[in-house]
Amino acid sequence: MRVYEIGDYTKGLSLHIVERPDPVPGHGEVVMNVRATGVNARDLSIMEGALTTRAMPYTRVPLSDNAGDVLAVGPGVDQVEVGDRVTMTHYWQWLDGDWNVSMAEQDYAATLDGFLAEQVVVPAEALVKIPDSMTYEDASTLQSAGLTAWNAVVEAGQVRSCDTILTLGTGGVSVFGMQWAKMLGAQTIVTSSSDDKLERVRALGADYTINYRNSPDWSQEVLDLTDGKGVNVVLNNVGMQEMEKCLLSCASNGRVMYIGANPVAHSQSTSEPVALTRFPNLIIKDLTIKGIIVGSRRMFVDLVQAMTTNQIKPVIDKVFDFDNFLDAIPYMKSGEKLGKIVIRVQ
Ligand SMILES: NC(=O)c1ccc[n+]([C@@H]2O[C@H](COP(=O)([O-])OP(=O)(O)OC[C@H]3O[C@@H](n4cnc5c(N)ncnc54)[C@H](OP(=O)(O)O)[C@@H]3O)[C@@H](O)[C@H]2O)c1
Repeated sequence: MRVYEIGDYTKGLSLHIVERPDPVPGHGEVVMNVRATGVNARDLSIMEGALTTRAMPYTRVPLSDNAGDVLAVGPGVDQVEVGDRVTMTHYWQWLDGDWNVSMAEQDYAATLDGFLAEQVVVPAEALVKIPDSMTYEDASTLQSAGLTAWNAVVEAGQVRSCDTILTLGTGGVSVFGMQWAKMLGAQTIVTSSSDDKLERVRALGADYTINYRNSPDWSQEVLDLTDGKGVNVVLNNVGMQEMEKCLLSCASNGRVMYIGANPVAHSQSTSEPVALTRFPNLIIKDLTIKGIIVGSRRMFVDLVQAMTTNQIKPVIDKVFDFDNFLDAIPYMKSGEKLGKIVIRVQ
């Protein structure tokens, strides 16, 4: 079978295809025949050796998004059968309940080889069945961006139909955040550097939009759009440099979901994350800043069920074939995309 290895990233982007023996499942494991995967912001950091938390071996296989079918099952597997269409979260040990940082030790595409491969061995207990109505490509957009936005809006955010949510940019997390908030009947405000993208997110259901490039003081626009009240939940997918404006955008009891510092935040005013020195409104408005770490398998099951019930489709910008994966990286970095990029594996 063929896989991409990240290669010697100290010399720049060094991804290349290698042949490996077909994997054999151990006890409690299955072999997933990977049909589709996708690129996320953290994958860029991994492939370029810029993930600050851990050094990667040059043989690491990247990409944590995944959708496929069961090719072979090992002894002791009763959760799935050969031929089942399946997917899983990349922090696979977070099955339910609270997150524990020790679960980050088992992380597909970071501590374990990821899904830019024709076959991957995975634990059967982690798998979630893909509904018949969902394509592999659609299913492969959900594990990182979709689930993170689900956690931020539905679980931690506790968004209600009377709420307004603000989500920054038109990347994968942001567009899913808008979709989950609309599903719950909430109002949505989406920002972008591009009027064309803002028109597209309005067509996808955004109620209000703000061009953050033309309106650097965008938190004032958020207050104007909400009659001075502010929003109930903010998805900060951009970084600490936007945190002050996120706090200024909040209504009383507002919650800012801190999701990440985007390595492809091409249009931000400063390229380095900045230390937050003031926390405007934090006390007087009783605000919360909450870190978000993707989501559990149980949340993922809920997400997949909700997509089926509400007939929600992910927003896929472009699909690349496995052999042309290297073309996906400059496209991802160009900032042209809206929503997700998918890699069709086989
Ligand atoms: N905590 C977690 O578990 C978790 C999980 C998934 C992702 N993340 C993180 O979440 C972040 C977003 O991920 P993603 O997959 O959505 O990335 P993405 O798809 O690459 O999104 C990039 C988008 O960010 C927007 N952007 C850039 N600078 C901005 C600014 N100053 N203000 C507002 N928007 C800006 C751009 O929108 P426009 O082009 O419209 O301007 C761009 O399209 C990344 O940092 C990622 O690492 C964290």
